[in-house]
Amino acid sequence: MRIIAITGASGGLAQEIVKQLPAEDFVIALGRSAEKLKKCYASRPNTACYELDMTSDLAIFEMVEKLYAEHGHIDVFINNAGYGDFSEFDAYTTAQIRDMFDINTFATMTFSRLVGHKMKEAGHGHIVNIASIAGLIASAKSSVYSATKFAVIGFSNALRLELAGSKVYVTTINPGPIATTFFDKADPSGEYLKSVGRFVLQPEEVARRTVAILGKNKREVNMPLSMAAAHKFYTLFPKITDFLARRVFNYK
Ligand SMILES: NC(=O)c1ccc[n+]([C@@H]2O[C@H](COP(=O)([O-])OP(=O)(O)OC[C@H]3O[C@@H](n4cnc5c(N)ncnc54)[C@H](OP(=O)(O)O)[C@@H]3O)[C@@H](O)[C@H]2O)c1
Repeated sequence: MRIIAITGASGGLAQEIVKQLPAEDFVIALGRSAEKLKKCYASRPNTACYELDMTSDLAIFEMVEKLYAEHGHIDVFINNAGYGDFSEFDAYTTAQIRDMFDINTFATMTFSRLVGHKMKEAGHGHIVNIASIAGLIASAKSSVYSATKFAVIGFSNALRLELAGSKVYVTTINPGPIATTFFDKADPSGEYLKSVGRFVLQPEEVARRTVAILGKNKREVNMPLSMAAAHKFYTLFPKITDFLARRVFNYK
């Protein structure tokens, strides 16, 4: 039986990932509200729900200790919690920027650091960090969100190298827009989601690609294909891509 932990477990993508896991996998569901988590997973056997304040390093440290005390080990840890806010760069307050980094980046780093250490000692494990295509390609009105996700990808790429000798794998999942409640906060007007309609992924598809690589030594999953290709183009021709991003593909 694998033990799989996931943060932001009551979110749209997380629920779909858990739904697609084999029933014999034991799921540790972490989220802001125990009540909400219990509602989401009431009918799933082999599931334990834990309420957690992801902005607190101490709470994360204590949670990791508790999980290892109660479950002995973790095979896969999925850092999934995250949110976006598609505002102009000068509309953010410092507190808003720090909060987004706390959830999207620092909590991911803290869990990866603490759980990664325990996995290294155990000589096996898999850390899966849900980043974003926004962490590979920056776009307008995505300055803070992109920065949080670029940081996650940079951190994960280094972590993968450090853990390579320990049989602990590190994967980043980098999806384009997914049809979840993410956009209720990121883009309350709904305009962005409408304008990128043809690129929008369903959570089932992102979950399927994520579940397929669990326990496998996979570097990254970039999707959809068109955005994965755009990332390669961006790496080779950043100036042209910036021009296109401003003139042609400016969806926000
Ligand atoms: N939807 C997209 O277009 C898209 C695209 C690329 C990448 N992603 C990434 O995919 C991951 C999952 O997102 P999703 O699409 O499933 O969105 P979602 O339905 O909004 O779920 C995200 C979950 O993250 C947790 N979370 C959000 N804000 C939080 C906060 N301030 N404090 C603590 N926890 C918070 C919440 O979990 P609890 O309610 O359980 O606490 C929330 O349900 C995120 O990391 C997101 O950045 C999303």
